[in-house]
Amino acid sequence: MFTACATFILIIAGALVTSNDAGLSIPDWPTSFGSFSVPPWHGGIQYEWSHRAIAGSIVLLTISIATWTFITERRRWMKWLGVAALGTVVTQAILGGLTVLLFQPPWVSSAHAAVAQTFFCIAVSIALFTGRRWIEEQPRAELDQRRPALFTLTLLSIFVLYVQLLLGAMFRHHGMSWWPHAVNASVVAMVLAWTAVRAISAYPQVEAVRRPAIAMLGLMVAQLCLGFLAFITRVMWGRDAAQPELPMVISTVVHVAVGALLLATTVVLAIQVWRHVPVAFEERVPGRGQNPVAA
Ligand code: HEM
Repeated sequence: MFTACATFILIIAGALVTSNDAGLSIPDWPTSFGSFSVPPWHGGIQYEWSHRAIAGSIVLLTISIATWTFITERRRWMKWLGVAALGTVVTQAILGGLTVLLFQPPWVSSAHAAVAQTFFCIAVSIALFTGRRWIEEQPRAELDQRRPALFTLTLLSIFVLYVQLLLGAMFRHHGMSWWPHAVNASVVAMVLAWTAVRAISAYPQVEAVRRPAIAMLGLMVAQLCLGFLAFITRVMWGRDAAQPELPMVISTVVHVAVGALLLATTVVLAIQVWRHVPVAFEERVPGRGQNPVAA
């Protein structure tokens, strides 16, 4: 849980670097001006160095968690999830370094943004799987007979959110225009609303599903409003600004942060649906009649 919260703070710190145009204020990596000590504290260096310091702490934290999980966890898949977290955070650190060394090519910066949120989702999932509620709770296991199944809808929601994240990151890092992100926002809104309404209306009694579904819906509405704010401050007002202005910095950073929360909440919903509402599928056994068998 602590790592998940620290990662959320890191995402905000990273967003502050981009929104304040501070990405290249320290020209080298992994050192800062040739040393590992704190550089002169002014301008964009403050944002860039704070981001590096928090990221370094999270790498160390993840190494400890992955090692601890590998040694003590009895669930085999949890051991591998710890390894996946470590692999992701190392990839993220390399992408962060490449961003600086290659002078911020849009595809590297966008990959850095996408892997950051992937790591956040893994950290949130580890917090969920190791929480008391997950371990003590008895899954309700209600079979889902509808098509498309709710689990399929949650996977579709994660997919459209990733597309949205990549389109937003490509715009933010000057690799693409803003409009594909704005157009895809309507697809995101439809898919997520469909998923949330289905979850809330079909399984109102399954608290583990209802709660993240309501949270997802609320975050999505907030994110749409924040998106319009980010658009007004960045694209309409900020186009000719000589330097980053406060309303733009605040609205874009909050938009990135809520985007990360929305993706992680959708991942939690998918996990809870997979646990509590397994998909019923029809199995036709030759010569044994045509009755559907739930599995
Ligand atoms: C629920 C739907 C939405 C989601 C999930 C979403 C998500 C995101 C994310 C994650 C980023 C940052 C990518 C990065 O890390 O670099 C971003 C950037 C951005 N989004 Fe959205 N967005 C949504 C809707 C919208 C809408 C409706 C608009 C309005 C046109 C919008 C405008 C922007 C702008 C202008 C940026 C760039 C901000 C900057 O330059 O700093 N977004 N979006």
